[in-house]
Amino acid sequence: MPQARIAGIGMYVPEQVVSNQDLTNYMDTSDEWIQERTGIRERRYAHRTQETTTTMGVQAARQAIERAGTTAEEIDFIIFATLSPDYYFPGCGVLLQRAMNMREIGALDIRNQCSGFIYALSVGDQFIRSGMYRNILIVGSEKHSFGLDFSTRGRNISVIFGDGAGAVVLQPAPEDGSGILSTHLHSDGGSAELLAMYNPGTHANHWADQNYASFDEAEIGNMFMSHQMIDEAQNFPYMDGQSVFKKAVVKFPEVIMEALQKNNLSPTDIGVLIPHQANLRISQFVQQKLQLRDDQVYNNIQQYGNTTAASVPIALCEAWEKGMIRQGDLVCLAAFGSGFTWGSALVRW
Ligand code: COA
Repeated sequence: MPQARIAGIGMYVPEQVVSNQDLTNYMDTSDEWIQERTGIRERRYAHRTQETTTTMGVQAARQAIERAGTTAEEIDFIIFATLSPDYYFPGCGVLLQRAMNMREIGALDIRNQCSGFIYALSVGDQFIRSGMYRNILIVGSEKHSFGLDFSTRGRNISVIFGDGAGAVVLQPAPEDGSGILSTHLHSDGGSAELLAMYNPGTHANHWADQNYASFDEAEIGNMFMSHQMIDEAQNFPYMDGQSVFKKAVVKFPEVIMEALQKNNLSPTDIGVLIPHQANLRISQFVQQKLQLRDDQVYNNIQQYGNTTAASVPIALCEAWEKGMIRQGDLVCLAAFGSGFTWGSALVRW
C-alpha cells in the first residue's frame, strides 16, 4: 500500500502582533526575561470576537487545499488537532466541515496538545496506507489568547503561548520513495498534571478536601465551574516549567533517533528538522545533542511563541515557503508536550 505524502501545506496567523513589551502592561515581566528563557520576541493574538480556532483553521486549510491542487469537495476525511476548541463539544472538525461546505465526511478531533499534529499525521498516514481515503485534511489550530491568565500569577505560562493555525493535505505518494516514511508515537501519563488545564473537568480533585460524601442537586451543579474555582484561578492552565523542560530535552532526541534508526538513517541525513516550537532553548539543546548544523533546524518561535498543535505545520509551511525544503529532502518532524505525549515523523519530500 502507498504511504501518504504531504501534497499541500498552508498556514494562518492573526494580524495582531503582541510584543514582550506589550505584556508588561498586564504582568510583572520583561522582554529580557522572556527572550533569555524562551527566545520569544512576539506572538500573534486572534481577534477577540471575530476569530476562533476553527476560523483560523479554515484559513490554513484553504491554502493547503489549493496548494494540493484539490478542492474542499474532494476532501474525504478531516483530522483536527487543538487544545483550545471553539466548544467543549462538539469538536472543531465538524465546525470546519460546516464552514467549508464539505461533504458529509468523517471528522476526527485529536486532543494531544503539542504533539497533536504528529498524532494526526500518523493517523492520516494509516488511513492512506490502508486505502480507505485518498484526500485527508489535517489541521492544527489554537486560540490560546482566549484563556490565559494575564496577571503576574500566570506569567510563566502566558508569555509562552500564541495563536495560529497550520494545515496539510495528505494524498497517496507515488511509488518513488517519497512521502511519510514512518511515524512514532509515545505517552507517559505519570506526569499528566505537570502541564494541564484541570477545569472544567470531571476529576473533582479540588473537592477532595471538602469531604463531599454524597451529592445533592445543588452541589452537582457546582462541580463544573464554581466561583471559588475562578477566584483561585483553577480555570487556567498549570505548568511546572522546569519538569517539562527536563523531560522534553530527553524525549525529543530519543524519538528523533528512533525514527532515524527505523529507516537506517542518521542525523547527518536530515535536510530539515522541524521541532515543535516549545521553547527556543529546548530546540537548541536538541540541535546540539544531535550535532545538527544551524541550516538543518528551523525555528520560528521568536515570532509566534508556542502555538501548540499549530506549531509544527506553521514552521513546516514557513520553511517550505522559504525554499528550505526541496524535492528529495529528508524532513524530520518532532514534538513533545502535555500528557506527556511525544512523537516524530520522517518525511521524504
Ligand atoms: N517574567 C518574569 N519572571 C518570571 C516569569 C515571567 N514571565 N515567569 C516566571 N518568572 C519568575 C518566577 O516567578 C521565578 O521567580 P522567583 O525565583 O522569584 O520565584 C523565576 O522567574 C524562575 O522561575 P522558573 O519557573 O524556575 O523559571 P524557569 O527558568 O524554569 O523558566 C520557563 C520558566 C517556563 C521559561 C521554563 O521552565 C520552560 O521553558 N519550560 C518548558 C516549558 C515548555 O516548553 N512548555 C511547553 C511544552 S510543549
